[in-house]
Amino acid sequence: MEIQLWRELLEPYALAVDEVVVKFEHLIDAYRKSGSYSPIEQVKGRVKSISSILEKCQKKGIEFGEFEQYIEDIAGIRIICQFTEDIYRVVEIIRNRADMQIKEEKDYLVNVKDSGYRSYHMIAYYTVETLRGPKRLQIEMQIRTLAMNFWATIEHSLQYKYKKNMPENLRQRLHNAAEAIVVLDKEMSSVRDEIMDSQNSFHRKAGLVADILTNIQNLYKIANKKEVVKIQDEFFRVYQEADLSKLEHFSKELDVIAEGYRAQSLR
Ligand code: GTP
Ligand code: MG
Repeated sequence: MEIQLWRELLEPYALAVDEVVVKFEHLIDAYRKSGSYSPIEQVKGRVKSISSILEKCQKKGIEFGEFEQYIEDIAGIRIICQFTEDIYRVVEIIRNRADMQIKEEKDYLVNVKDSGYRSYHMIAYYTVETLRGPKRLQIEMQIRTLAMNFWATIEHSLQYKYKKNMPENLRQRLHNAAEAIVVLDKEMSSVRDEIMDSQNSFHRKAGLVADILTNIQNLYKIANKKEVVKIQDEFFRVYQEADLSKLEHFSKELDVIAEGYRAQSLR
């Protein structure tokens, strides 16, 4: 097959990866804007390179004409969570999506791979619109914690370096490291509530400050300058108190003031 044709063939996969990443990013955003904890920390995607596709075809004895059917990870999405519990929440969210139909799930948290690899894998069908109409293709989603991702990244690069010949002692050390990752994730889960609370209040605070500053900026255009400077000083004072409920109260009061000015200026 000519290189140009390969590119065309892979184009819908690139579209699928872009779309799915954007969708998950908006989901993260929606959680944070509503002041709730997002079970997804980060999402990344990639399209398998032509050389990796060829290599996989060769290794698995797949005919070129059939690779779209048999290579399930041409479009790859990686979803990173903070806590192990979040992984199962994300799985549930994906199962309930209308734009993806699950083909297969593999729980490598329960069925840990010999290497020590842990992750939750989902293969789904996803449809993109192309010049020739809708195209239904497969995407692979790997859902794992930050710690699992750290381990998998290191292990993958060592695997790549040694190919099939990883020294036994290195393999053993990686295996031990994988167990240490489990302990770390358990430890993190036990302080999860505290971490979540502080993150929620961080995002809530960031949202409040943004709202307040927008309001003050708009007031500058329509209100008495001295008045606005007074409001701004008051904001700095409240801000320094580092009390979220006081900041919330201030923001509400400011909303009322701003609304009053807007109503006046509309008359
Ligand atoms: P593939 O031929 O790779 O598709 O294997 P499979 O069909 O059995 O799928 P599996 O779910 O086992 O693995 C798919 C992907 O998971 C791989 O391409 C890797 O990205 C990742 N993966 C699986 N096992 C390991 C592992 O031991 N170490 C690391 N670092 N990644 C792994
Ligand atoms: Mg696979």
